[in-house]
Amino acid sequence: MEHMVLYGPFYELIPLQGLHTHGAIADEKIERIRNAGIVVENGIIKDIGDFSLLSKMYENAHRPPSNDKPRVVLPSFIDCHTHMCWAGTRVDDYAARVAGKSYLEIAAAGGGIMTTVNATRKANEEELIAGIIDRANEHLRRGISIIEVKSGYGLTVDDELKMLRAIKAANQETAALLIPTFLGAHIKPKDFDGNNAQYLSMLLERVIPIIQKEELAHRADIFVEEGAFTMDEAKWYVTELKKLGFHITMHVDQFHSGGGILANELGCVSADHLEYTNENGIAAFANSSTVAVALPGASLGLGMQFSPARALLDAGASLAIASDWNPGSAPMGDLVTQAAILGASEKLTVAETLAAITTRAAAALGFDGGTIEIGKKAQFNIFETNDFRDICYRQGQLKPIASVIENTFINHE
Ligand code: NIG
Ligand code: FE
Repeated sequence: MEHMVLYGPFYELIPLQGLHTHGAIADEKIERIRNAGIVVENGIIKDIGDFSLLSKMYENAHRPPSNDKPRVVLPSFIDCHTHMCWAGTRVDDYAARVAGKSYLEIAAAGGGIMTTVNATRKANEEELIAGIIDRANEHLRRGISIIEVKSGYGLTVDDELKMLRAIKAANQETAALLIPTFLGAHIKPKDFDGNNAQYLSMLLERVIPIIQKEELAHRADIFVEEGAFTMDEAKWYVTELKKLGFHITMHVDQFHSGGGILANELGCVSADHLEYTNENGIAAFANSSTVAVALPGASLGLGMQFSPARALLDAGASLAIASDWNPGSAPMGDLVTQAAILGASEKLTVAETLAAITTRAAAALGFDGGTIEIGKKAQFNIFETNDFRDICYRQGQLKPIASVIENTFINHE
């Protein structure tokens, strides 16, 4: 009994369970359980339902103190695409961009991603760990408790491994769950002596075996773009990694279209960015097992168009939204604000926006989650409001007052 906790009473509980995986979602599809409670035993949801009924059924359960303000409980948010392991700053890039230079121009001149690579190579593992923990804790205060984190600012054997080891170590020191992704194929670094194909071969021959041995990641990513990798290079590299059992995600269609179709053809778990995805690209996502991931933080950071989220949903795609948190294109990091802004701009229902940062973000990471459901791990946020739609309406300014992550209760007040 010691580990059994009864949370509530909640004005409403939004389980987000049983939502369809693809296409548009009307807000009426959202189940709203009134006067609800949640029973958690050893970190697993044992029961949900009417609070007074649950208090009789589980009368010995521990009850955390509550007041009489209305509260809404929802699944924890999931950020399925971040680069939050980095050192240094890119404020100079920002200033250059707002003064008129483009992201690709800055990169071609040797700045951009290479600036962060140089700073990250100089940092030691402890410094990287500290940065990840700070950012993960910032995400926890926003209600985000499952966070994908990419490597990709090391771009040598040792520096890529340093990043992945730092992510693994940071995961032990934060209540958030960090899911690592190998992005050695971010760009070919300026100081690599060889062509793109030789660089990708080096990753496959020298980095991947160590990643597998130390179990540092089972996901890998590649950036398909001018100045990064071509579609043909990606096709070969991804095919090799798939043979080894890696789950693949790709950075595609950020400034040019075509990569989104390739990601679907290659059976990637997700295809991310999509600012330049055209009609053919959109059609490729219809009922596809490849989740389309919009990154509004990159559109806001670079001052460019949003991904065609509405058209993707109407075509029958599974749409997730992630922060892309990184020092270059997406320094803001606030996923909930970004999702709400994308929703307002692209006309996404509240249900579509919330699914995109819960159930569909879980799908983008290859697992079934993002719900409050009996038998599943307890992962939920408590907000002081009487209407779950306030989370989108307030555009990220309504923060959770508390979060539950399995056995951990985090009071944010
Ligand atoms: O998702 N586009 C490529 N990679 C990152 C940005 C990395 C950076 O600018 O540091 C992105 O936008
Ligand atoms: Fe990214």
